[in-house]
Amino acid sequence: MYNFEYQNPVKIIFGKGEITKVGQNIPEGSKILLTYGGGSIFKNGVYDQVKSSIKGFEVIEFGAIEPNPHYETLMKAVEVAKKENITFLLSVGGGSVLDGTKFIAAATRFSKGDPWNILSRHATVTDAIPIGAVLTLPATGSEMNSGAVITRVEFQEKLAFMSPFVMPKFSVLDPEVIFSLPERQVANGIVDSFVHVIEQYLTFPVNSPIQDRFAESILKTLIEEGPKVLANRTDYEAAANLMWSSTMALNGLIGVGVPQDWATHMIGHELTAFHGIDHAQTLAIVLPGVMHIKRDQKKDKILQLGDRVWGINEGNDEERINLTILKTVEFFESVGIPTKLPNYQVGTDTIDTICDRFTKRGYKVGEKADVGPAEIRLILEDRL
Ligand code: NZQ
Ligand code: ZN
Repeated sequence: MYNFEYQNPVKIIFGKGEITKVGQNIPEGSKILLTYGGGSIFKNGVYDQVKSSIKGFEVIEFGAIEPNPHYETLMKAVEVAKKENITFLLSVGGGSVLDGTKFIAAATRFSKGDPWNILSRHATVTDAIPIGAVLTLPATGSEMNSGAVITRVEFQEKLAFMSPFVMPKFSVLDPEVIFSLPERQVANGIVDSFVHVIEQYLTFPVNSPIQDRFAESILKTLIEEGPKVLANRTDYEAAANLMWSSTMALNGLIGVGVPQDWATHMIGHELTAFHGIDHAQTLAIVLPGVMHIKRDQKKDKILQLGDRVWGINEGNDEERINLTILKTVEFFESVGIPTKLPNYQVGTDTIDTICDRFTKRGYKVGEKADVGPAEIRLILEDRL
C-alpha cells in the first residue's frame, strides 16, 4: 500500500426528514445564496422543506444551473454573490448544482485573475465561500468530496478542479429525494457510482485488502440495491442503501493508498463536451473499452473483480476476463444504459476529434499515465 493522508471534514446528515436540520447547521447571521437547477426541487417538495428550515436567514436565490453546469451561468452567480456580499452558499440539487456551487464559492473569492484558470490551468484555490448541500440525486459523490466538473460551452470544454476549500461544511442526504427521480437519473446514479469505484479499484494490486473489500462491497450493494430502486422508487430501504453507496464510492476512502485510473472519466468528459451525452452514459460506453484494451495491465484486478463481484471462477484467464467485461456491460444495459457509441449517434469523426484534443493537451491518463491518443482511439473504436 502507498503512503497516504486522509482528511474528510464533511458532516453527513443522513435520513428521512433530516432536511429540517439545514438551518441549524448554517452559522447565525449568514447571508445565503440558495442555488438550484431546473426546478425539480419545486415539484418534489424539497424547496419547501429547505425554505422552512432557513426561516430567519436572509436568502437570495439563484436557479437554472444546468446539468453539466455551465461556466457562463455560474459566472452570473459569482456577480450576484459579490454584489450581495453572500457569506454562505446552500446548494439544493444534484451533482451539477453542487459542482456549480463549488465553482461559485471558489471563483467569488479568487483574486489571481481570470477564474477560468482554476479549471484550465489548475490555479490554486486559496479561499472559498462556505457551502452546505441538500443532495437530491445520488451519483457523483460531490456531497463529500473536493471535486467539481464545469463545462464552458463556448469552448466545448468540460474540466475539473479540486480543492479542500470547496468541500461542503455539511451535506443532507434524505433518501426520500429519490422518490421523484426519473428512471434515467436513477440509472445514471447507479452507473456513475459503480464506475467511481472501478476507477479506484481496477488497476493493479498493491496489497490493499481493506480498500479492495470496501470497493467490492460498494459494487455488490449497487448491483443488489440499484435494481430495487428502479423497480420501486419509493422503496425507502433500497433508496437509503443506494444513496449511501454513492457517497462512499467517491468520498476518498476507498482510494487511499492505492493507484487510481480515471481514464474512463477523462475520455467520457469529452463525449459530454462534444455531444451532451449524460455523464454516466459516457462511462458506460467507455469503461468496457478500457477494460478490453488494458486487459493485460489490469489482469489481476479484472480477475479479482470477476471472482469476488460477479462470481466468475471457472475457465482460463482470457475467458474469465471476457466474461467479467460482458457481465459489466450487461449490468449497465440492464439498468437501461446503452454501452455503444452508435446508440448515441456518435461515429468515427468524434473519435478523431477526441484523439486530436488529447494530442494537443500532451498528457496521458490512466493509473500508469500510459493512455494517450493511440490507446484512446483503440478504446473508442472498441465501442463502435
Ligand atoms: O435541474 P433539476 O430540475 O434539479 O433536475 C435535475 C437534472 O435535470 C434532475 N434531478 C435532480 N434531482 C432530482 C431530479 N429530478 C427529480 N427529482 C430529483 N430529486 O436530474 C437531472 C440531472 O441532474 P445532475 O445534477 O446533472 O446529475 P448528477 O448528480 O448525475 O450530476 C452530474 C454532474 O456531476 C459531474 C458530472 O460530470 C456532471 O457534470 N460529476 C461530478 C463529480 C464530483 N464532483 O466529484 C464526479 C463525477 O464523476 C461527475 O463527473
Ligand atoms: Zn463520475
